[in-house]
Amino acid sequence: MTKIIVTGGTGYIGSHTVVELQQAGYEVVIIDNLSNSSVDVLQGIFAITGVMPSFEKIDCTDYQAMESVFKKHADAQAIIHFAASKAVNESVEKPLLYYRNNLVSLMNLLELMATYTMPNLVFSSSCTVYGQPDILPVTENSPIKVSLSPYGNTKQIGEEIITDTVHANKSIHAIILRYFNPVGAHESALIGELPNGVPQNLMPFVTQTAIGIREKLSVFGNDYDTPDGSCIRDYIHVVDLAKAHVVAVERMLQGKQKQNPETFNVGTGVGLSVLEIVQKFQDVNNVSLNYQIVGRRAGDIEKVWADATIANNELGWKATKSVEEIVQSAWKWELQLQKKRKAN
Ligand code: WQD
Repeated sequence: MTKIIVTGGTGYIGSHTVVELQQAGYEVVIIDNLSNSSVDVLQGIFAITGVMPSFEKIDCTDYQAMESVFKKHADAQAIIHFAASKAVNESVEKPLLYYRNNLVSLMNLLELMATYTMPNLVFSSSCTVYGQPDILPVTENSPIKVSLSPYGNTKQIGEEIITDTVHANKSIHAIILRYFNPVGAHESALIGELPNGVPQNLMPFVTQTAIGIREKLSVFGNDYDTPDGSCIRDYIHVVDLAKAHVVAVERMLQGKQKQNPETFNVGTGVGLSVLEIVQKFQDVNNVSLNYQIVGRRAGDIEKVWADATIANNELGWKATKSVEEIVQSAWKWELQLQKKRKAN
């Protein structure tokens, strides 16, 4: 059975990707320091797939600890690197924490891949690298703009570090996936997004407001140059996103890469506004949401959505889940969390 290492595998996107990898027949080893996730996620993965992934509680910035994992799992054929700090506004307040955590962990990984001839890397990047595109939908060849946050900058620098490394060391292959906005949860409601503290992202704030944890959702601005004035994003179901990682790994295992590294936009190609998502959430789940239009949030871009043609054609991957499935699965997950909280 081909072994895949997943750093950040108890996180939101990581855990959904572990499920898809296991169901595609791969053996998975999770590396995670649990700084922004819970070890209970392993139970959720097991409950879905019937297979408990190997788990190494390790911080990717700890070179020695990482080296021990590489020695123990020298037979792994690919690494998917999710482990990173990802809160945009926190990165503005704590830039060095973000540069150290996100870049040192990546450099450790790349050094160890070379030393232990671990051939393939899938890197978690973000549409944040495009900033506010001048032309939409945004393609992989759209200009990379000066990042508005240290978080976004770590993704841009990370892509550059990978590109320079694979050009210098032909034995390492990499695929860079630029995510749009991951939302929703596995249909089982056994895994999902576990935001720490007050959610920064839209969907968890919507579901926590609907269930009564938050008093009201603030919609950050309705004076943008969009049909209803609120910002537009490309919301992609996290399971669709997870499946893109499996096909990226398989592309490298089968030696199908046409260049090294390759970069793909992983989005639906459809832009939805905040107010459209809010309305859809209420209609599909038959719940009413207390929200108020307030001022713009600093750093928000106005509108972005993907041109995912290259991923569709080259990876043979396409997002299939509807916005109805997104809001329904997000709500089902929040209801499940409430049940757990009441049981404890
Ligand atoms: C989406 C829209 C907000 C919360 C960020 C990162 C990106 C990725 C996803 C990590 C915006 C509006 C939000 C709220 C609101 N993260 N909003 N009220 O900012 O597009 O992307 O998270 O990889 O890299 O940049 O996502 O969910 O925070 O915001 O009105 O309480 O929802 O203004 O228009 P964003 P988001």
